[in-house]
Amino acid sequence: MKRAPYWWKKSVVYQIYPRSFYDSNGDGIGDIPGVIEKLDYVKELGCDTIWICPFYASSNYDNGYDITDYQKILPEFGTMEDVERLIFEAHKRGIHLVIDMVVNHTSCEHPWFLKSKIGELDLEGKPNPYRDFYIWKKGKKVSDGHGGFTFAEPNNWEAIFGGSAWSQAEDGSEDYFLHIFSPKQPDLNWESPALRRKIFEMMSWWLDKGVDGFRMDAICYISKDPNFPDSMDGNIRPYAAFGPHFEEFARELNREVLSRYENVMTVAEMSESTPERAEVFANEDGSVFSMIFQFQHLDLDGGDSFKWTHRKIDLRALKKLMGFWQKNLFGRAWNSLYWSNHDQPRIFARFGEAEGPFHEKSAKMIAACSHLMQGTPYVFQGEELGMTNYPFRDIEEVRDIESLNAWEKFTADGTFTEDEMLELISLRGRDNARTPIQWDDSQNAGFTTGTPWIGVNPNYRKINAKEQLSREDSVFRFYQKLIALRKELELVTTGRYVSLDEENPETFAYLRVAPEPDSVEKLLVMSNFTDHEAKVNFPESFLRENRSLDTEILLGNEPSRTEFTLSEPSLTLTPYETLIIRFFQR
Ligand code: GLC
Ligand code: CA
Repeated sequence: MKRAPYWWKKSVVYQIYPRSFYDSNGDGIGDIPGVIEKLDYVKELGCDTIWICPFYASSNYDNGYDITDYQKILPEFGTMEDVERLIFEAHKRGIHLVIDMVVNHTSCEHPWFLKSKIGELDLEGKPNPYRDFYIWKKGKKVSDGHGGFTFAEPNNWEAIFGGSAWSQAEDGSEDYFLHIFSPKQPDLNWESPALRRKIFEMMSWWLDKGVDGFRMDAICYISKDPNFPDSMDGNIRPYAAFGPHFEEFARELNREVLSRYENVMTVAEMSESTPERAEVFANEDGSVFSMIFQFQHLDLDGGDSFKWTHRKIDLRALKKLMGFWQKNLFGRAWNSLYWSNHDQPRIFARFGEAEGPFHEKSAKMIAACSHLMQGTPYVFQGEELGMTNYPFRDIEEVRDIESLNAWEKFTADGTFTEDEMLELISLRGRDNARTPIQWDDSQNAGFTTGTPWIGVNPNYRKINAKEQLSREDSVFRFYQKLIALRKELELVTTGRYVSLDEENPETFAYLRVAPEPDSVEKLLVMSNFTDHEAKVNFPESFLRENRSLDTEILLGNEPSRTEFTLSEPSLTLTPYETLIIRFFQR
């Protein structure tokens, strides 16, 4: 497929978690042929890019984010021919395919690691070329309490999925290997030129197959502090993210791989991101990545650093933060817009209502508020149906390595009781996003004819794609309109962001202003984040400047709202209402 320059700026991405999308052969696991069968659904929604989570050969401790062979497909997902067919069938429909690239680490069962852990010398006694592919450090010499000594972890870094970030290969040596996530996911050593070469060749091989880009998993971690100092509180992120060689490696990846193909899209997953970092790594000159996933908005309620909490997002803080990103990246770097993915709970854990009269209305409001900012929006599978968190009642129902490790740790050390921890997993756990897509109201929501690998949300008889497609005012239809609006209106891509009524704790309002100085065109996006009526206040200057312009309602979620004129200093929105107005001159 011919790719236009910067095509992703006008794109809306649909994220597919293949394990839970659609099962074509009744083994209870979603698969690549299942994705192909549902491409027309994605097309109907209006998304023109798919990011598909890992489908490579994997040991599956972390559902595909622990790869054993980058150039093979996990048999339960299908074959390489299926993936080639997926690329072909997506392109036939004008849909780009972006694949998930996990190169910060591999599986502990990847042949590179199996060879690496043999030791400094290989089985023939020669220097082991794979040793250097991973990060090995001598253990710290500590007293054994009996006058002798023993070895301990090289430092106090904690793995993101719990426990020490260091493990031993059990080969009798004093060496430890580093794993930022879990011991099943040893970190690759990007300091090794031979390793980098391998990665670059493999990524080029995928681009030669015709994929349109990569979502770069956990990429901010590929360069670590070379001194491996102890961390104050065990938190690994300050030492493992954005290390001294990160920029060099990222630029090399661009030079050696990405820039050799035309208009490849990359979205780099980067916790610890700031607008300054975005300007370097998602710069509009295309010298590194096309855009990044930042985490600051998710961190507002605990998010990345300590997610197991009931904390709620303060809307004022959110507005300030989003505005800060919008303003700082304008004309310099490109943003991604998302609330949901396979690592986050469903959106209603944060805003809106998972059930009750405002469920659908709130889902639409949240979508409009985020989609109409500047950047590329991401729709996580099921989000367009208003899918909700799963009511976990037993730890036996949980599959996710992160939740299971947290359960072990926090129920053992007394941080939470079992009941509290289960409640937190139901609120925040990643499995909430990973339950099967609810296609219809038949058994297992039409996802599989077999036994699904993880529970289907019991609300599937009410919330499912078939029902949503049969109804004009459904969440799905609203997303369709929102996505179409982006395609029709240049302003959604190019407009400058101006926040309005920023101190208001209940409503979120902003403008998108045409960048051309001779244009008066603008969009006004107003959203009520509460379950009661709430006001948007217009500053005097705003009223003065825009009162004489023509207006039209482009989209909204309140059926009774049929007209809008800018005459009063404030507007009262109904519960969870969103209203999108265009200002123009006839
Ligand atoms: C990323 C992925 C997540 C995975 C982790 C380790 O954060 O999105 O699902 O567990 O990296 O690969
Ligand atoms: Ca299957």
